[in-house]
Amino acid sequence: MSIRFKMTTIAVAVILLANSLLSFLALRYLGSVWLGEVQTRVQRNLNSAHAAYQKHVELIAAFLAGAARDRTLIDVIQRSDPTEVGPLLDDIHRSSGVDFVALLDPAGRVICRAHSEQRGDDLSGDPLVGRGLRDPQVVTGTVILSRDRLAAEGRELADRARFELVLTPAARPTKDTVRFEGMAVAAVVPVRDAQGRIQALLYGGNLLNRRYGLVDAIKRDVFPREMYRGRDIGTVTIFQGDLRISTNVTMDDGARAVGTRLSDTVCEAVLDRGGTWAAPAFVVNDWYITAYEPIFDPAGRVIGVLYVGLLQAPFLHQLNVINAVFLAIVLGATVASLILLFMANELVLAPVRHVVVMAQKVIGGDMSARVGIRPPGEMGVLCRAIDSMAHAVAEREELLKYATRQQIGRSEQLASVGRLAAGVAHEINNPLTGVLAFADMMRDKENMDEQDRQDLELIIRETKRVRDIVRGLLDFARETPFVQKPMDINELIRQTLRLLGKREAFQHIYMVEDLGDNLPLVSVDRNQLQQVLLNLTLNACEAMLDGGTLMVGSTTENGRVVVKVTDTGCGIKREHLDQIFEPFFTTKPVGKGTGLGLSVSYGILQQHGGTLEVESEVGKGTTFTITLPAVPNNVVGGEPPAARTA
Ligand SMILES: Nc1ncnc2c1ncn2[C@@H]1O[C@H](COP(=O)(O)OP(=O)(O)OP(=O)(O)O)[C@@H](O)[C@H]1O
Ligand SMILES: [Mg+2]
Repeated sequence: MSIRFKMTTIAVAVILLANSLLSFLALRYLGSVWLGEVQTRVQRNLNSAHAAYQKHVELIAAFLAGAARDRTLIDVIQRSDPTEVGPLLDDIHRSSGVDFVALLDPAGRVICRAHSEQRGDDLSGDPLVGRGLRDPQVVTGTVILSRDRLAAEGRELADRARFELVLTPAARPTKDTVRFEGMAVAAVVPVRDAQGRIQALLYGGNLLNRRYGLVDAIKRDVFPREMYRGRDIGTVTIFQGDLRISTNVTMDDGARAVGTRLSDTVCEAVLDRGGTWAAPAFVVNDWYITAYEPIFDPAGRVIGVLYVGLLQAPFLHQLNVINAVFLAIVLGATVASLILLFMANELVLAPVRHVVVMAQKVIGGDMSARVGIRPPGEMGVLCRAIDSMAHAVAEREELLKYATRQQIGRSEQLASVGRLAAGVAHEINNPLTGVLAFADMMRDKENMDEQDRQDLELIIRETKRVRDIVRGLLDFARETPFVQKPMDINELIRQTLRLLGKREAFQHIYMVEDLGDNLPLVSVDRNQLQQVLLNLTLNACEAMLDGGTLMVGSTTENGRVVVKVTDTGCGIKREHLDQIFEPFFTTKPVGKGTGLGLSVSYGILQQHGGTLEVESEVGKGTTFTITLPAVPNNVVGGEPPAARTA
């Protein structure tokens, strides 16, 4: 799985999750805010409807109060002439437009009714009249009119009030199928004579059953001309008890939905407990956002309900539009952030791709390959670091190649010179032995003068010198037998230095031993290794003709024994450093050095699986470093492994 895929997947998941969570919460919040808003509006509408209802009652009261002040009415009452009262009431009835008007005596008995012959009945039981009698001023309110009372007020009112119940599943169960009572808004107004004494009560009102003018007027007041798809948004209903007696909610056939009843839930909240109820509800045939409040009679009993409802569909439509816009914005933002994410990914991962390409080139052997680019920030730092690393690796490889080339060259050189030297040495060795033997014998002769003796000594000395050189050549060619034994290198060093210390040339040299403890054993040919140490220490001595310090140290490093021979002599020139291991390279005057010491030592160490390296600074000194493989699991004093002969 690529980094890109992982990063993209994680980021996309985070974005999608966050956005869907955001949308979910925001939509829920929007929905609840919206519902609250609409609900508040319905509540306001209900308040307006209540005010309009109240205004209607006040109007009736105002009209009756006007009529009660009519002097003719008072005169007629004082004369108590029923034949005159009847036409007067008819007049009031006609001009006011109220459904019923009656004149009561101060005890609450009916003196006369407009358009009805019925009189003499006692209305003091009517809660409105009751209050009018107790408190002689204008009293208004909503009252329930019984079947008989309606019949007394007129046939037409009784018919209007009669409802055959329409059965609906949500309504409260009831046994009756027909309702005969009516509900009216009415006012009772005292009629006073000139002295202010109450002569009679004027009682008038409107039956609300099937009186659609009132609900339509309220609707016009509260929801001025609000329509949705050809339907009124706002609806108003008046309930008598739980019965819909006047409404502008229509059924599917367009008829007003009267005769149906309130749902049980609302009944309980409003009729039983006298509270208000507001919530979305399914009314008749559609969803409305509704609000209900109780209608009280003058005695404080709940006798009906006033309802306003707003068709939910248009608001839902609004909400859906808002939601759609919101979702579109979120979607847009999501798409935009995904595009940004892909671009950012591209930007971040492009350098990674460069690095990968570069690494593959390096693996393929192209050490010159570099990342090259330097993007800002950590990526830039990383690219720079990788380039530096590649550069360092390339340099090291170049050095290694060079060193290997040198090594190979040197080994080849040694091998060819060795073969040549071996051949020559063999040829020279035999005659030389003869020369020496005869020269020795001649020296023992008795009759020899001093001059001859001295010449013979010279011959012997010079021949010995030649023999040494030949021996050196034979050593170099490794013609001499070679026996390896495990031994303590410190012991060998001490012995060598003791040997040297006695020499004249070392008298002005300060010698320091720095030998490590518990060194592992090394498996070497004693004579040969001693020769190496002698070669190095003699070279050091020869480099310090004016005196100095010779330090020989031993340690162990990575499982190898390391011996360092350091002098404070003249040092080796840079241009000679590459040549000193070559056979016959010497800077010493003719007759002084053969230039074989270092190449022989190099060869010996190589044969022991060891190395010889040099570090030098002209005027300061030189250090030769020998490394030899340690005999495994063996320190000084341990069990020596079996000797080996090469
Ligand atoms: N410790 C040293 N300080 C300075 N120069 C050195 C040192 N060791 C070696 N050299 C240089 O390296 C050359 C080669 O040394 P090498 O021992 O092979 O030959 P040599 O000393 O000249 O002759 P010989 O065969 O007698 O040892 C020397 O001539 C000298 O110039
Ligand atoms: Mg030497």
